[in-house]
Amino acid sequence: MISASEPTRAGAVASTTVVTHNDPAAGTRVPGPTPATRRVLSARAVTGATRAFEDSLHPKTFRWLAALFEERVGIRLPPAKLCLVESRLRRRVRALGLASLREYAALLKAPERLAVEFPNLVNALTINKTDFFREPAHFSCLRDRALPDVMARTGAGHTRPLSIWSAACSTGAEPYTMAMVLSEYARTQGAFRSSVLGLDIDTDALAVARRAVYPAAMSDPIPEALRRRYLLKAREPQNATVRIAPEVRRMVTFQPINLLSPDWGPAGSADIIFCRNVLIYFERHNQEKALRGLCERLRPGGYLFVSHSEALHGMALPLRSVAAAVYQRLGAAPTGEA
Ligand SMILES: C[S@@+](CC[C@H](N)C(=O)[O-])C[C@H]1O[C@@H](n2cnc3c(N)ncnc32)[C@H](O)[C@@H]1O
Repeated sequence: MISASEPTRAGAVASTTVVTHNDPAAGTRVPGPTPATRRVLSARAVTGATRAFEDSLHPKTFRWLAALFEERVGIRLPPAKLCLVESRLRRRVRALGLASLREYAALLKAPERLAVEFPNLVNALTINKTDFFREPAHFSCLRDRALPDVMARTGAGHTRPLSIWSAACSTGAEPYTMAMVLSEYARTQGAFRSSVLGLDIDTDALAVARRAVYPAAMSDPIPEALRRRYLLKAREPQNATVRIAPEVRRMVTFQPINLLSPDWGPAGSADIIFCRNVLIYFERHNQEKALRGLCERLRPGGYLFVSHSEALHGMALPLRSVAAAVYQRLGAAPTGEA
């Protein structure tokens, strides 16, 4: 996904060559450059364009990087993402005080330097788009079906805290939405205990999640009553941010994980896992690998929520479909058709 703010390769080159001749704001015509000036400008444009061209990833290097990234993280980087990748990696070039993407690529190719840089590379290239109450039907299903069912069958919530995970939680909107839903649920249940765990590979995203401060506009999808109960407004009127209230923050902890590594994550297991809008970036074999890992950590009878755009059809997983993009972990049987 290329966001509007990411300059395209064409845009980057064009910005070095456009020369304005008119000043519509003043309503007067500004004389165009003389032939001599035009030659200088055009020489500069060529230099700029050449620099932009030079500061790019060689196609072979891009293929190498894409293969490495997919193998380790799961995310596909098809050739159409070249400009996005270059644009994001230029920030790493600047942060490291390097001269060019070529230098950065050389750094990545040195194994001991790659080991140090890899977490930053991951943080630079992940796609973190998220929202509160994203795909809201899932939160109704959580409240009306998954929570009552898990409680009735296992006593979770009363005899022990009910455990719910947001796998690939990005900057925290999903786990905090869960915590708000759980808090509302607790109001109807008496002594109800639960915990939320937010998991993601991107440590920058997790830092934002822990801070729990968001642009006020991001809170629009949160129902008004919950906004009043669980969000704090900044004191200064010019500060258009909201912070998650302490009682909700206290319910949520965060931990870095890689869904593709065999031994990721916390000890113990979850009653309910959301893993949404991440598998869509993976090839099918990596989707299955990640889903098998999730199933291993989900209690029998527990619920798995994926995104509506992520189909599990035909995968050999111990899951049965119970609602749109909602699955239930089968009992003792190790495999089954989803
Ligand atoms: C588009 S966000 C989805 C956020 C949230 N689940 C939602 O639906 O709004 C995808 C997240 O997946 C994370 N991610 C990508 N690959 C991952 C991996 N291999 N292990 C863990 N998290 C990963 C990214 O860092 C990113 O924050």
